[in-house]
Amino acid sequence: MLDLDFLFNPEQIAIVGASKSPQKIGHAILDNVVNSGYEGKIYPINPKEEEILGYKAYPSVADINESVDLAIISVPVKHTIGVAEECGKAGVKGLIVITAGFKEVGREGLKLERELTAICERYGMRMLGPNCVGVMDTHTPLNGSFATGFPNEGNISLISQSGAMLVSILDWSFEMGIGFSRFISTGNKADLTEIDLIESCAADPYTNVILCYIEDITDGKRFVEVCSEASKKKPIVILKSGISSAGAQAASSHTGALAGSNRAYEAAFRQSGVLRVDTMNDLFDLARAFSSQPIPNNSRVAVVTNAGGPGILATDAVEKYGLKMARFTKDTIDKLRNNLPHEANIYNPVDIIGDARDDRYRFALQATLEDENVDSAIVILCPAAVTEPEKTAQTIVELNKKYNNKPVMAVYIGGKALAEGKNYLSENALPSFTFPEPSISALEGMTRYNQFIKEAEPVEPAELTDTDYDTVRKTLDQVLEDRRVVLLGHEASTVMSAYGIPVSKTYLATSEEEAAEICGKLGYPVALKISSPRIAHKTDVGGVEIGLHSEKEVKRAYRKIMEQVTHFLPDAPIYGIEVQDMVDEGVEVIVGMSKDVQFGPLVVFGLGGIYVNLIEDVSFRLASALDTYDEVKQMITETKAYTMLKGYRGKKSADVNALSDTILRVARLVQDFDEITEMDINPVRVHTKGSTALDVKITIEHKE
Ligand code: COA
Repeated sequence: MLDLDFLFNPEQIAIVGASKSPQKIGHAILDNVVNSGYEGKIYPINPKEEEILGYKAYPSVADINESVDLAIISVPVKHTIGVAEECGKAGVKGLIVITAGFKEVGREGLKLERELTAICERYGMRMLGPNCVGVMDTHTPLNGSFATGFPNEGNISLISQSGAMLVSILDWSFEMGIGFSRFISTGNKADLTEIDLIESCAADPYTNVILCYIEDITDGKRFVEVCSEASKKKPIVILKSGISSAGAQAASSHTGALAGSNRAYEAAFRQSGVLRVDTMNDLFDLARAFSSQPIPNNSRVAVVTNAGGPGILATDAVEKYGLKMARFTKDTIDKLRNNLPHEANIYNPVDIIGDARDDRYRFALQATLEDENVDSAIVILCPAAVTEPEKTAQTIVELNKKYNNKPVMAVYIGGKALAEGKNYLSENALPSFTFPEPSISALEGMTRYNQFIKEAEPVEPAELTDTDYDTVRKTLDQVLEDRRVVLLGHEASTVMSAYGIPVSKTYLATSEEEAAEICGKLGYPVALKISSPRIAHKTDVGGVEIGLHSEKEVKRAYRKIMEQVTHFLPDAPIYGIEVQDMVDEGVEVIVGMSKDVQFGPLVVFGLGGIYVNLIEDVSFRLASALDTYDEVKQMITETKAYTMLKGYRGKKSADVNALSDTILRVARLVQDFDEITEMDINPVRVHTKGSTALDVKITIEHKE
């Protein structure tokens, strides 16, 4: 792991471009460093000044004649290269480049940014930015940024690719009473990236939860590697913007069209144990929950409320987010029955009714938190004449501390009458919400994290025998020699067989006589399919005839296919017609792979057939995640196709184990052969015993 002490805990800081003029960013940075209580040495660098803010100024870093851990650079873009060079020569360990005008402004800027990175590499300096706000660490303490204000001390680290977002969040955090350990603005990420920073925050003893706002990820493979380890130590919550489906639109296969970068991010986050949120609110709700509450042991929620309606809303939300309403033990039910008014509801949600004062909240909350069937609690309070919002807030905080292995969230529904109570809750770091749903959503995130931690124990990858690497290598090489990128049906069939994937037998015939001859050996019935590298969806152009029982039918079908295809696509190169044995009935599913630029091969599973893109009943995993049967089965169960496989409406169940084996082998194949760019097996027919890949499309690319 990188040592980023120079960034978060430097012993000396030079501020290049420090200015006496309060309007300048260089002034704000120096002022922030000084006022944050930073205890190391401070060197303002300015060729025109003797002293700034009471500190001796130096004309350049070279004039300091002492070692310098960190230089924060805030000079116009045209001077940055020279300044970086000076820093390198002076042995500075690392830079924060605040200056804008690099990659983000176009080609010229990109050139400058590359020069800057090259200088850093040459001198072994690390760099944050350029085009960033800087860093803050409340525990060092250090405010090495030009932001207005310094966060309250806390245990949340925030890493943001957007500087504007970072400073806005900082300002908002004061109002919310949220504390932070680190604030980091990544800027253009020319050197240090969100991955390095996540890794560092995971090792920071003052950070309990890591929040990220990112627009893109610099290195998908490393992201998954680093985050998979980091998220075992502490929760990572990411808000990712800029989801694009451009890649998906350009794809030619079913899988490619289904995939898109969003699915790849989704799969990568899931594999790495990263919790993804869609809104800023969700990001902070989860941050507040993780930073102050224990992680729930399971998903059983108790709700205590003084109003029926919000109790039902909370119950609905519990179901919506896949959590469970706790079923109390008999002991708890008896306790509640004997102590609450007759009109109260003693089952979950516990409705202590509108005239509940603090004592009733205390009793009900304590009873539910003591119940072994309860993993977390939501306390809902609506203002009525006798309600005691502040006193109840004190009770909630007190009981939360007492039962400190179960998270508690407060839902104070109202405004003015509840303000004091809400203040008390936030001052005491107990997450409070104005409506039930966000509190349940936060609990769901925490529960999911707990699940990840439980499942994070390393498991032995499944051992796959019968994988014939050489045959696949030879087949792919032949296709490339033939200057093609799409495998013909019989070639794809060879690849499948070589990797132990049961596939329908496929042979290429170049005349109707040859087709008939093959059928003679193969036996009837058979299917015929057009063989052309240009035709992806054969049925659409009349290129498929099935259920042929005699030589006569085969010859007629051969002519019909040729006529139809040449009618629809007169220019398509035709290699002949594939003869395929007819395969037993079964549930038709799709197994495919498309390659994501960031994360590599992404495997899809779902309901197959020609409507796959319309129905979109699919689940995705990075191929690298599919190394155990358990993970494959989990992927299968996420789809409606699984209901069909289990045997829908009196049908016999299909062989899910055989299907899992096929998916596992596809995942291995696409990882072993990096040149495979897209793959569709649509359908894989899953029989009551065994499964068969019916229509296999594989696209490859030329590798250097
Ligand atoms: N070494 C040391 N000091 C230098 C210097 C050098 N090579 N070159 C210039 N300076 C001094 C200047 O004399 C000036 O000091 P002064 O006020 O005493 O004259 C100071 O550094 C700043 O230079 P100046 O030319 O006044 O620039 P500026 O402060 O107006 O702008 C930036 C500099 C970096 C703030 C500006 O170029 C910029 O990039 N702004 C955008 C920052 C941003 O938005 N970042 C991303 C956030 S998400």
